[in-house]
Amino acid sequence: MKKTLAILMALVMVLGACTFASAEVKTYKVGISIYQYTDNFMTLYRNEIAAYFKTLETDEVKYELFFADAKNDMAEQTNQMNNFVTQGMDVIILNPVQTSSADVLIDIAVGAGIPLVLINREPLAYDENGNTLDERYEGILNNPQVCYVGADARQSGTYQGELILATANQGDINGDGKISYIMIQGDPENIDAQYRTEFSVKALTDAGKTVECLDSQVGNWDQTKGQELCANALTVHGYNVEVVFCNNDGMAMGALTAIQTAGRIVGEDIYLVGVDALPEAVEAIKLGDMTGTVLNDHIGQSHAAVDVAVQLLKGEEIQNYYWVNYVKVDKAYAEAQ
Ligand code: GAL
Repeated sequence: MKKTLAILMALVMVLGACTFASAEVKTYKVGISIYQYTDNFMTLYRNEIAAYFKTLETDEVKYELFFADAKNDMAEQTNQMNNFVTQGMDVIILNPVQTSSADVLIDIAVGAGIPLVLINREPLAYDENGNTLDERYEGILNNPQVCYVGADARQSGTYQGELILATANQGDINGDGKISYIMIQGDPENIDAQYRTEFSVKALTDAGKTVECLDSQVGNWDQTKGQELCANALTVHGYNVEVVFCNNDGMAMGALTAIQTAGRIVGEDIYLVGVDALPEAVEAIKLGDMTGTVLNDHIGQSHAAVDVAVQLLKGEEIQNYYWVNYVKVDKAYAEAQ
């Protein structure tokens, strides 16, 4: 009887130990610095990072997320990176304020031995005058624990041009043999803004079209600024403006307000395209208030960023670059959503 009791007790202890072991939770600390919380697209992206991390949690693995708003301020973001080091982050996801200063931020993470996933704003190589070169960045290529997750902005620009070429009069509403456009640009330091500005027009000229740039201004991705710039251009150039290219949908939504206030009608006397496929832009396309946009896949990008962060936490080998495709969004595509 005594023996049976002893065996039973031993069994209970072993079982208890097993339960205890399986209940042990590993919590990883993840630092996430976003260049600016007021950015519409990065808000969708940021929320999806949080939502997706949650789906990956198990009884054994948890992720404690430390989000920080860099408020478009490089000094603020440098502080946040230093704080992430002090707080002992296991991995950092970084949406840099200034890609030209990416080396400073990369050095902080690499110096502290913390793996780093850069997102959305790709740092490129620079020449001695500070101009971006069409070359990959050494700070990423040379670091096995650093990578970039993004989309190739050339593709989004090309799709914008193609959306205009797909219209009834291929962008030449007044039939004068040329496509007269205005360009509303994002942050000019950002390669997304540079490539979208260049490749949207290149798609037109590659198709043999003559183009005329009536105005090209910096709207810094901002809706209010987009509205202001478009309103000014419409006042100065009136019905000569046939196409409004916006580097993103935030600014395109602002431009739409300006277009409507000026009594202009999208699809009849003017065309309007953006990038991102914000829900409000997709709605506008369905209503015919926008010609089209390009899906900047924040779901695909945020999931890729989180997946590689998890790989880094597990000590797995990673690639230096991960690319997510853009998708052209015309009326048919928007209606199918
Ligand atoms: C772009 C996006 C913009 C803005 C920018 C921030 O990819 O289209 O709307 O969010 O990133 O870097």
